[in-house]
Amino acid sequence: MKIVGVVGSKRKNGNTETAVKIALQTAQNIGAEVDIILISQMNINPCDGCGECKTKECHIEDDMSLALSKLIEADAIILASPVYYGSVAGGFKCFLDRCRPLKQQGNKLSGKIGGCIAVGKVWGTSKRFRFNNSFFWFSWNNPNYD
Ligand SMILES: Cc1cc2nc3c(=O)[nH]c(=O)nc-3n(C[C@H](O)[C@H](O)[C@H](O)COP(=O)(O)O)c2cc1C
Repeated sequence: MKIVGVVGSKRKNGNTETAVKIALQTAQNIGAEVDIILISQMNINPCDGCGECKTKECHIEDDMSLALSKLIEADAIILASPVYYGSVAGGFKCFLDRCRPLKQQGNKLSGKIGGCIAVGKVWGTSKRFRFNNSFFWFSWNNPNYD
């Protein structure tokens, strides 16, 4: 089993990164192969909504193609973000939006296990979980959504 953890904080060595590393280390200890995507170390531009990914590769040239290939290889994916104003951090939202080619080009996330880590100080973690549930639903499974 290969597990990929996505750290959605731009803060290097922050709380989200710590939480994901603990989860991955724990999985590795019981035999899983693990990999990590650190958004803090990547250049990921926002989706511009051109719709080209319905028929061809994304035209935006940045680090997202490497991230997408890691997600395709994974059996399980942990999506982790700090809570920002009751939702996800902006850089992480860019990442999720740029995952659209995986949906558009044949539901490439279908059947994978999805996990979620929300790191907050005082408020909004459950709302954050609901946000990721929406992503899992629309992007992973929902055949009626393109
Ligand atoms: C712009 C901003 C908005 C935040 N909004 C919330 C919030 O709504 N609820 C909360 O509990 N914490 C909020 N926080 C605190 C962070 O979620 C918290 O410090 C988190 O541990 C940061 O994770 P990191 O170290 O991985 O970046 C916010 C922090 C920032 C910078």
